[in-house]
Amino acid sequence: HNNVTISLLDREYPVDNLTTITPTILSKVDRHLHNQYQHPIEIIKRRIVSYFSHKWVDSNGDPLFKSFDNFSPVVSLEQNFDSLRVPLDHVTRSKSDNYYINNQFMLRAHTSAHQRDTIALGHSQFLVTGDVYRRDEIDTKHYPVFHQMEGVELFTNEELFGNEQGSLFDPLKEETEEKQAEHSLETVLAIEKNLKYKLESLMQHLFGNNLQMRWSGTYFPFTHPSYELEIYWNDKWLEVLGSGVMRQHILVAGGKGSKAGYAFGLGLERLAMILFGIPDIRLFWSKDRRFIDQFINLQENSSLNYKPFSLQPPAMRDMSFWINNGEFEMNDFHEIVRDEGEEWIENVELLDEYQSPETRRKSLCFRITYRCMERTLLGEEIQELHTRITDRLQKEMSVSIR
Ligand code: PHE
Repeated sequence: HNNVTISLLDREYPVDNLTTITPTILSKVDRHLHNQYQHPIEIIKRRIVSYFSHKWVDSNGDPLFKSFDNFSPVVSLEQNFDSLRVPLDHVTRSKSDNYYINNQFMLRAHTSAHQRDTIALGHSQFLVTGDVYRRDEIDTKHYPVFHQMEGVELFTNEELFGNEQGSLFDPLKEETEEKQAEHSLETVLAIEKNLKYKLESLMQHLFGNNLQMRWSGTYFPFTHPSYELEIYWNDKWLEVLGSGVMRQHILVAGGKGSKAGYAFGLGLERLAMILFGIPDIRLFWSKDRRFIDQFINLQENSSLNYKPFSLQPPAMRDMSFWINNGEFEMNDFHEIVRDEGEEWIENVELLDEYQSPETRRKSLCFRITYRCMERTLLGEEIQELHTRITDRLQKEMSVSIR
C-alpha cells in the first residue's frame, strides 16, 4: 500500500500493518448485487423475504420479520468478532482470511456482525442481507465477495411455550452438550423445533416439496447448540446454511436478555447456483447481457435452465518458484493472482511440491486456469497477464521463479 489512507463509501481510513484490502476488492463495494433488480442474487433474496413475509405473520396479518438490506459492509472488528465473542485467537480472525481496512475496521466477513446491533435497535424478528468479504483460494465455487442472509428470531417465555408450563431459563446454570448455561433444556428443544421447521419449509419453498434434507450438529462460537442443513441435489449433499441457538450474551448486550432465540446464515450464491444451475461464481459479477437477461421476468418460483454462453476453452499456464520455508502464505499468493487477473482466473491449483535435498528449500508448482466468461482470450493476453502475475510475486512475496 503506497497510500496512507483508503477512501471507502465517503470516508477516509488510515492504513496500518493489518490492512489487507486491495483495489480489486474496493471496486466491488458499490455493486450491491443483492439490490440490483432481477439479478439472480436479488431474485433469491426476494424469494426468501417473500416466503418469510407471507408465511410468518403476526395476529394482525403483518409480516413478523423485518428485512434489512442496506447496512454498510464496513464494520468494526468489534462488531464482526467481539460482539459475538469470537475468541481472540480464533482462526477466523486471521489476517490471511479477512479484508481488514485497518486495526479498527474491516469489510464484514459475515452478516452475523449485525446481530447484536439490530437487536439493540429493538427488533426481535429480522433478516439482514448483505455482501460479505473473505480472502480465500480461487476456484469456481469461491469468490472473495459473496452474499449472505442472516435471520434472527427471539422469543419471550410466553411466545415459546404459550399457555403450557415452561421456563426459558435454567436455575442450575450448567453448560452441557445440549444447552448453554442460561437455558433450560425445554427452551433449546422448543427453539430447535421452531427453527428447523421454518428453515425446512423455506427450502421446500425454494426447491420444491420433494426435497430431501438432513441436519447435523456443528460448531459456531456464537450459537450453542449449532446445526447445519444439507439438501440433496443432483446426486450430492450440499450444505446450505448454518444455524443454532444464539449465545445468550448477544441478547443481553442488545438489551433483550429476557428472551431467547435462534440465528441462521444462508449463502445466497450457493442457493442461486443450485437453483439456476450457474456453473461459475464469477458469472454473478458479469455485466454481459447474455447472462443478466436470462433472469429478467422469470416466473415467480420457477427455476431456469441456465444457458451457458461461454464455450471458450480454458487456457492453462503453470508456474514454479522457490519459497522461503515458513514465509509463504497461500492466501497472499491467491490474492495477488486475483488482484492482477480479476475475472479472468478460473482456478488456481497446487500441482506439486518439491524440497531440494541439498538446500532444504521448497519449490511449489501451480497451474493457473485462465478463462473469461464473455469472450475468448488471446494467447498474447494470457501470456502478458501471466508475466505480470509472475513479476508481482517476485516483488511482493520474495519467491524466486524457476
Ligand atoms: N455466520 C456464520 C457463517 O458465516 C453462519 C451462521 C449464522 C451460523 C448465524 C450460525 C448462526 O458461517
